Amino acid sequence: MADVAVKLSEDAKTAIVNGLTQSIAETSIETMKAQNYHWNVKGMAFGPLHALFQTIYEDHFTAQDDLAERVRALGAHVEGRLSTFLKRSRIEECEGKISDKEMVKKLADDQELLSSTLISLAVLADQHGDLVTNDMAIERSQVHDKFAWILRSHLE
Ligand SMILES: [Fe+2]
Repeated sequence: MADVAVKLSEDAKTAIVNGLTQSIAETSIETMKAQNYHWNVKGMAFGPLHALFQTIYEDHFTAQDDLAERVRALGAHVEGRLSTFLKRSRIEECEGKISDKEMVKKLADDQELLSSTLISLAVLADQHGDLVTNDMAIERSQVHDKFAWILRSHLE
């Protein structure tokens, strides 16, 4: 069976892998952040927020794997080091102690940022005819938009 990467030029592959790497980095930082908030959240909304943050980090953990395996399917090496994630992510690591409301606000902002990263990747992949990465990126963007909406609804 032909390597899927054969259909892409080297330049196209490099650009798409670059977009996937940023997506993996940001998804991974957000996974850890949501889990950190899951552990540390306090207050009267503890139950639903503890559960919501878990839903987010479980979703993101699966997504990291799917995005990384797409890099491998394109024939490239996955840059899976935490130090690389921190360098490549526009999303910052979680900070010290913050309130439940601040946690929700920060995650909502991050989800919007993640959605924009994935949409940029979807457009790039489409330009190069990589419909599989395009489809994956659109689906991820949709998930991030939904989480952003759920989180923002707590703040209204
Ligand atoms: Fe837990």
